[in-house]
Amino acid sequence: MDYNYVKKHDIFASLHEDDPINIVDGKGALLINESGKEYIDLSQLTQYLGQRNETFDRKIKIAFDEITVSKSNFSHYKNKLIKLMIETTNHNFDKILFTTSGSEAVEWGLKLAKKRTGRCETLSFWDSIHGRTQYSASSSGMPNRKIGYGPMLTRCYIRCLPKL
Ligand SMILES: Cc1ncc(COP(=O)(O)O)c(C=O)c1O
Repeated sequence: MDYNYVKKHDIFASLHEDDPINIVDGKGALLINESGKEYIDLSQLTQYLGQRNETFDRKIKIAFDEITVSKSNFSHYKNKLIKLMIETTNHNFDKILFTTSGSEAVEWGLKLAKKRTGRCETLSFWDSIHGRTQYSASSSGMPNRKIGYGPMLTRCYIRCLPKL
C-alpha cells in the first residue's frame, strides 16, 4: 500500500510522508526546518501551548519524575487535574474520563448518550470531522473515512449545514 493511497482514503491519522518536513527548532507557533525555513504551526497543541512553553516544560519534567498510575488508580497530580477540570466547568460534571484521542472521546460520548437516553440515532453535518474509529467515522460527514470498510453503524444521519 503506497502513501498516496493511504492519504487519499484518509486511512490513518498521520503517517510518514515521502517528503517530510524535518523540524529542528521553534518557539511559540514558529517552527524552523533544517535549512532555516520558518513555518507557522497551526496544529491544535501549538495553539494552546506553543513550542518551548517554559511553564509547561517545567511542569512536564517534574511529572516525568513522579509515579504513573493506571486508569483506576489515583495520584496527587491526577487528583489535582480532575479537581481543576471540575471547577473550570462550573461543577456541571462530577466525574472525568480521560481518553487518548478525539475519536475515542466521541466514541464514548455517543455511547454514553445512547445509554442515558435509550435512543440510538446520531445527527451530524456534512463534512464534519468526528474521528476515524468505527462509531466516530460513522458519525462523520466525510465519505473517505467510511467507504471501503464494510457497513458503517446504522442510524447515523448526515445533513447539510443550515444556511445562516
Ligand atoms: C471536532 C473533532 N472531533 C474529533 C476529532 C478526532 O480526533 P483524533 O484525531 O484525536 O482522533 C477531531 C480531530 O481533529 C476533531 O476536530
